[in-house]
Amino acid sequence: MTAVIAAAGSGERLGAGGPKAFVPLGGRPMIDWSLDACLASGSVTAVVVAVPAGYAHHLQDVVTVDGGRTRAGSVANALNAVDTELVAIHDAARPLLSPELLDDLVAELVANPDADAIIAAAPVTDTVKKVDGDRIVETLDRSVLWGAQTPQVFRTDALRSALRSTDAVTDEAMLIEAAGGKVLVHDPGVANLKVTTPLDLRVAELLLAERG
Ligand code: C5P
Repeated sequence: MTAVIAAAGSGERLGAGGPKAFVPLGGRPMIDWSLDACLASGSVTAVVVAVPAGYAHHLQDVVTVDGGRTRAGSVANALNAVDTELVAIHDAARPLLSPELLDDLVAELVANPDADAIIAAAPVTDTVKKVDGDRIVETLDRSVLWGAQTPQVFRTDALRSALRSTDAVTDEAMLIEAAGGKVLVHDPGVANLKVTTPLDLRVAELLLAERG
């Protein structure tokens, strides 16, 4: 499997004055935590990172590609450098990735030959409202709602053909779903938080320090 790390976002919401993937977290650039997990996974044979313009030289031993205007554009650029049967797409913004999570996802996809993909996801804990402007129009049934995370592991052929359709997506699994494909969910059972705000950065730092 090739691990693709999407690391080309601007990180505006974090307000750290530079791309989020390269913001210091626990004494090293955020992306290094995900890279370490990918390189330590027995399932991963290659890593491709989509980087912001001017950042390729920060990463020595992995293949880098230019990021796109959107996250999907970055993933599409990275896919051009993938020649393995399986591909994992992971956001550099989720630094708590573990090699075990990658390996568990691969094992479950291999055990389900009729599935096209499997994603890390967890049941939502908030009650989720659909809002129009400032007005709630619907309360969704929480018992069937899961929050999608990364990594997301795909059969590469299925992802390639799904990616041809559009790039207005927030994750790649929705392309496979829209094409009628079968996507499994796997609850990591541990924190796999996405760093978006300065508070997330502090929480991630604490969790990584705790993990040792
Ligand atoms: O902005 P957000 O946190 O949702 O981005 C998710 C991931 O996608 C981040 O790791 C970010 O670096 C990456 N990304 C990218 N190319 C873009 C936009 C975001 O690789 N054009």
